Amino acid sequence: MAYNLLKGKKGIIFGALNDRSIAWKIAERAHAEGAEIVLTNTPVALRLGELNNLAKACNSLVIPADATNAEDLENLVKKSMEHFGGKFDFLLHSIGMSPNVRKGIPYDNINYDYYIKTLDISALSFHKVIQICRQHDAINDWGSIVALSYVAAQRTLYGYNDMADAKALLESIARSFGYIYGREKKIRINTISQSPTFTTAGSGVFGFDRLIDFTERMSPLGNASADDCADYCVTLFSDLTRKVTMQNLFHDGGFSSMGMSERAMTQYDKSFKECP
Ligand SMILES: NC(=O)c1ccc[n+]([C@@H]2O[C@H](COP(=O)([O-])OP(=O)(O)OC[C@H]3O[C@@H](n4cnc5c(N)ncnc54)[C@H](O)[C@@H]3O)[C@@H](O)[C@H]2O)c1
Repeated sequence: MAYNLLKGKKGIIFGALNDRSIAWKIAERAHAEGAEIVLTNTPVALRLGELNNLAKACNSLVIPADATNAEDLENLVKKSMEHFGGKFDFLLHSIGMSPNVRKGIPYDNINYDYYIKTLDISALSFHKVIQICRQHDAINDWGSIVALSYVAAQRTLYGYNDMADAKALLESIARSFGYIYGREKKIRINTISQSPTFTTAGSGVFGFDRLIDFTERMSPLGNASADDCADYCVTLFSDLTRKVTMQNLFHDGGFSSMGMSERAMTQYDKSFKECP
């Protein structure tokens, strides 16, 4: 069901790779709520070709950009403003990648060149795009910027590796820039800390199938899906959340407040009986 929550609003969405991507669902939902969208991803991701299907469905322009590259981001922001005929209202950062995770290198034997790449792609890119938007005065007053995070920023989860550090930095950038952009332009910046979700990036995390089962058992409401995340994100782009800023907002069915649940204990009991 659509409520026209984003009627007349315009925004840039980073990170839709395929129809499992969280950004893909957010783009579809934002379009259904009346928003005009520019979609962006790396040239490599665009060559896979799937983004064109989303662009057609959402009647949107696609502009390639590597989010670590300031020139690409300048071009993206300028071209988006030309396309929209002026400023826009929201921006989604839905980007994550760790070469250490990809190559199965553990945190205690980390490759530092890869570590810097992880931080650059997954966190510094957020700072870069906000800084460039601000330099171009590209976002309307009371606009909204959202990035996707994960609870590993606060709590250690086996196998999440250097992405945990990247998410901690990402959330800190949201607070630091949230103060500056809020004070000047009433633009809000938040992160959504999403449940584990079956996507290309998510499935790359060590033991992902077990992790997603564990969080499902631990969360009183169950894991939040990508579609649930899209619903929540649309409220953050809308005018209904104008005074919410500098927050890391848990969207995880209650997982982050749990210690042990009955369902998880039942499962643990089974393995305990098998191997006492
Ligand atoms: N899937 C999960 O379990 C989960 C849980 C919490 C948070 N998140 C976060 O959600 C966000 C989206 O991930 P997803 O799960 O939808 O996976 P995904 O693989 O569909 O999306 C990741 C995106 O990052 C893009 N990307 C990588 N390097 C880039 C670069 N240099 N410049 C621009 N884009 C680049 C990829 O092309 C891809 O579109 C990430 O920040 C991820 O950490 C995911």
